[in-house]
Amino acid sequence: MADLSRIGVSIDSELLHRFDSFIADKGYDNRSEAFRDLIRDRLVGSAVIPSNALVVGTVTLIYDHHTRLLPEKLTDLQHENHAIVISTLHAHLDHESCLEVVVLRGKSRDVQKLADRLISTKGVQHGRLVMSSPETVSHHPPPHR
Ligand code: NI
Repeated sequence: MADLSRIGVSIDSELLHRFDSFIADKGYDNRSEAFRDLIRDRLVGSAVIPSNALVVGTVTLIYDHHTRLLPEKLTDLQHENHAIVISTLHAHLDHESCLEVVVLRGKSRDVQKLADRLISTKGVQHGRLVMSSPETVSHHPPPHR
């Protein structure tokens, strides 16, 4: 790891106790790695990503496929934006509920916009975008060229 900096953080004991339980649950060996992952996660998940940065993202949707025209609307939106939709996974959870995961790649603003439209489509019960920018966060060493 290049340019490692050490920082001291003041934290109240109760919060630290909860943090330790959390990282034990997640299987971290030490606080440092857990702390770094939380920071990365927060930076990637916030508005730190420039709107024209190239990102990959997944949109997870849960909806009732009996809702009138909902499956068609979600499919239409994806066709309209086929240039940034890489793949879609659909799982029929039970008689009513569907889980759909849409994998997107493109400029941050386009990915965010399509995710917002999918998630806000009437009848979608739960939706969440997870976005990652290979340009701004390097989690792993760059690939060989
Ligand atoms: Ni289904």
